[in-house]
Amino acid sequence: MTPDRPRVFISLPLSDDQLAPLADYEVIRRTAAGPIQHKELMEMIAGAAGHLGSAVLAIPNEVIDAAPRLRVISNFGVGFDNVDLSYARQRGIDVCNTPGVLSDAVAALTLGLILQRARGIGEAQAMVRQGRWVKGAHPLPLGSDLKEKTLTILGMGRIGLEVARRAQAFGMRVLFYDLRGDCEAPPGADCAPTLDDALREADFLSLHTNLTPDSYHLIGAPQLAAMKPTAYLLNTARGPIVDQQALYEALKEGLIAGAALDVLEVEPPPAGEPLLTLPNVIISPHIGSATVETRDAMARLAVQNLADVLAGRPCSNIVNR
Ligand code: DGY
Repeated sequence: MTPDRPRVFISLPLSDDQLAPLADYEVIRRTAAGPIQHKELMEMIAGAAGHLGSAVLAIPNEVIDAAPRLRVISNFGVGFDNVDLSYARQRGIDVCNTPGVLSDAVAALTLGLILQRARGIGEAQAMVRQGRWVKGAHPLPLGSDLKEKTLTILGMGRIGLEVARRAQAFGMRVLFYDLRGDCEAPPGADCAPTLDDALREADFLSLHTNLTPDSYHLIGAPQLAAMKPTAYLLNTARGPIVDQQALYEALKEGLIAGAALDVLEVEPPPAGEPLLTLPNVIISPHIGSATVETRDAMARLAVQNLADVLAGRPCSNIVNR
C-alpha cells in the first residue's frame, strides 16, 4: 500500500509545468476565481504540510493554529508582512519568499511611474481622447526633465538598487536612505545622513522597504511637510508605509505635487476612497511584479522553496530563521 503523500495547498492558479517539482505530494489546487475567503483558507490549509499563495494573502495566527501539520508557507512574492514570522517560527513553520526574480519588474514599473508623473502621460492621453488636442498649442502644464533631479530611495534592498541604476541612466541624482542605518551607496549615488535630509532633497521619493513595525506610517504628515511642494511620492512597496489620510491632506493642500501609488493601505480601495477624488494621484492595482516572465519566475521559485523545505533540502529564501 502506498503511504499517504503529504498534502500541499496551492491557493494561486499555477500551471502543471510550474507545479512539476511537487510530484511527490498530494497537490490541492484552488481553481475558484476571486480572492480566497478566510473560512476556505482555514479549511484548505487544515491538513496541509505546505501552502503556496500570494504574499498579500494574510495568514493570521488562527489559520496557522488550524493547520497542525503545516511546515512551510511559501509566499509568491518578495513581501512577508502577511504572516507573523515569530509565531510561525514558534510553530516550526518556515516562511519563504521569492526575492530577486521580481526586482527588474518592480524597478521598471517605478521608472514608469516616475516618467508618468514627470511627463503627464496619462493626462496627455485623456486630453487626446477628449478631443482637446489643439495643433500648435500646449494646453497641458509642461512636464519636467529627469536629468539632474534628485530621486530619494528609501530602502537599500535589491529593488531599490535596481531603481537607482535605471534612474541614473536618465541622469538623475540618486540619494539613498536606509532605515537600518547601514547605508552604503552604490557608485554615483549618495546616502542621506537623516530621513529629514532625504525628504528635503527629493524631487521624487520612492519607497522600497519592507513593511515592519518600524516602517509602518514612516511617511506621515511631518514627513510630507518636509518635502518640496514640487516633489512626487511613489509607492510600489506596501501601502501602510504611508499614512494615507496624511497623504490625502498633503496632496489636497499642495504640500507635494503628486503621488503614484501601486499599493494602498486597503487593497482594493473601498468605495469613496478620498485619494481617488484627487487629480494629482495615479493609482495602479499592485502590478509591480505583474509581467509574464516575472510571474513565471516567481511561481517556479515559490514552488521550489516549498519543495525544498518539505524535502529537508537547504533553502536560502526562508525569512524567519
Ligand atoms: C510582493 O512581491 O511582495 C508583491 O508585492 C506581492 O505580489
